[in-house]
Amino acid sequence: MPRVRNHVNPLKLETWARESLVLPSQGEVEVELGCADAQFLFQRAALAPARVHIGIEIRVDLVHDVNLRATTQGLTNLRAVFANINRDLDRLLPDGRVQRIFINFPDPWFKRRHHKRRLLTPELAAAIERKLAVSGQLLFQSDVWELALDAMAVLESTDGLVNQRGAWSFLPDHDFGARSLREVRCAAKGLHIWRMLYRRL
Ligand SMILES: C[S@@+](CC[C@H](N)C(=O)[O-])C[C@H]1O[C@@H](n2cnc3c(N)ncnc32)[C@H](O)[C@@H]1O
Repeated sequence: MPRVRNHVNPLKLETWARESLVLPSQGEVEVELGCADAQFLFQRAALAPARVHIGIEIRVDLVHDVNLRATTQGLTNLRAVFANINRDLDRLLPDGRVQRIFINFPDPWFKRRHHKRRLLTPELAAAIERKLAVSGQLLFQSDVWELALDAMAVLESTDGLVNQRGAWSFLPDHDFGARSLREVRCAAKGLHIWRMLYRRL
């Protein structure tokens, strides 16, 4: 199983995927931000072979591993891309094209002093809102209360995103039919998982 402990500091990396992704003009597209081994996306891809699944990941070894496994399994609807979400999302994806964006257990750095490295900044939330199709969904999951609360504060103040459970409400569980590796591990340890589901207006 791939480990996710060799953290990459996104503020220090300098080389990135430079091209935009070429997506089919029709059909659903789903994206996981920080996919690691992409277990969640592999399960989603198995549910809907016609849908496109893209994982964006800052660790190039994990990206290669995901793409190798997808090829070996004959999956043509799943691909991982090496990029820094905070810097590259706007360029990678066309506006209004994505049906679902998943942020599953995003930050290895959750301490207060690492706040500037947080994945879900107001700028990223605005970019997510631009990338989602009308009625597109954003799922956020974390086992870290402080991080989930900060993410909720960002999302609640993002124009164009509405909390599906009501303002400032968490989602007890999701029904996307997939579980990320971290999600499975948290559940096995009995940790509480803070979940939120937003819809683009
Ligand atoms: C804690 S892991 C969770 C992985 C997976 N989503 C899961 O739930 O099992 C967070 C992942 O996000 C990636 N990541 C963190 N910041 C990123 C960034 N700015 N751009 C792309 N990937 C990032 C990390 O490399 C890591 O693989």
